[in-house]
Amino acid sequence: MLPSPHPQHHAQRPFETPHRSPDLSVIVPTFSETPSVGPLIDALKTALEGTHWEVIFVDDDSPDGTAETVRSVAGSDRRVRCIRRIGRRGLAGASIEGMLSSSAPVVAVMDGDMQHDESLLPEMLRRIQAGADLVIASRFCESGSANDGLSQARLGGSRIATWLARRLLHIDVTDPMSGFFAMRRPVFEALAPRLSAQGFKILLDIIASVPEPLRTSEVPLSFRARRHGESKLDNLVAAEFLGLLAAKATGDVVSIRFVLFALVGGFGVLVHLAALKASLALGLAFAPAQTVAAYVAMTGNYFLNNALTYRDRRLGGWRLLWGLVTFCVLCSLGVIANVGVGQLVHEQSHVWWLAGLAGAAMGAIFNYVTTSRLTWRAR
Ligand code: GDD
Ligand code: MN
Repeated sequence: MLPSPHPQHHAQRPFETPHRSPDLSVIVPTFSETPSVGPLIDALKTALEGTHWEVIFVDDDSPDGTAETVRSVAGSDRRVRCIRRIGRRGLAGASIEGMLSSSAPVVAVMDGDMQHDESLLPEMLRRIQAGADLVIASRFCESGSANDGLSQARLGGSRIATWLARRLLHIDVTDPMSGFFAMRRPVFEALAPRLSAQGFKILLDIIASVPEPLRTSEVPLSFRARRHGESKLDNLVAAEFLGLLAAKATGDVVSIRFVLFALVGGFGVLVHLAALKASLALGLAFAPAQTVAAYVAMTGNYFLNNALTYRDRRLGGWRLLWGLVTFCVLCSLGVIANVGVGQLVHEQSHVWWLAGLAGAAMGAIFNYVTTSRLTWRAR
């Protein structure tokens, strides 16, 4: 080996050792947050002065070019990284991927819109280094607050959701819906395969999925008002939240997606009855009226599932139309599965409602499994 011409260049300070990972990775999921990127990185630099840290933005290909903005900063600061995801949406999934991309002993997740107080990070890191597995920045513990950042309606919704989660899932933290928390990375790593990438409620999912309780600690957070852009949470998150509750309350026997699919199906029954009544009123005979009603309900279910159950892989354009065709074909086959099983149970038990339920359940499962593989298959 040739002797190095400038041996002094190899004498590096500990922070510059090429193989050492940072002590803390801050994960920031973003969707259209360009104006906040610069201010957030500056705020992190100030707050984490003296700490060996990095920030990983996980952007879902925002139309406003958030990923490019991050990369332009990353070009001159290697503490800044960017993951750009294409064809996918979702805060939980983005947070999970960001945490999995880190090799630091501690990971933190925070919003990219400056609503979270970055000056809490050193204390959160310190508590983990002192033995906690999970530190939550809580809006609802003593001296925390959410009044600046949440409307009255959101505050009310958040309180109901928190109460439900605490009652149904026996969770005893004050803010299981917080989007700001820090964790020991190996603990997260062990848990990651159990988590759902769907939805917003990553922290709740983590707490509800641990086999043994985590050593948890809370720091009070004053949730700030948003400065730029607007919230990406819409009314559908309420349904998603109920799906997560049901999935966790049944010990993950059902997935969030299946709960949502079943909810849509239940609503479809009402649509079916309404369409049947309307068709009969228009003078159709029963059989054609029932057929019309079935396809009206199917079409309704398709669009609802596309908007809600599969919002993270929503179909659009021609795919939307083709999806409707495959959905209707598969659900028509589902009727055969439904009637077949119903008949079988009826022959065995002669209980009409049991046979009817068994058939309907079989049909729902058939439709769910087949349409998830074909109509909304992951690209
Ligand atoms: N990658 C990615 N993909 N990021 C997303 C997505 C997405 O689909 N949707 C939202 N984000 C990012 C936003 O850009 C922001 O950085 C962060 O996730 C939080 O999203 P907001 O839209 O600002 O959420 P919020 O302020 O209404 O909700 C906050 O409070 C909720 C509880 O009331 C968040 O902290 C939530 O996590 C929290 O549950
Ligand atoms: Mn926000």
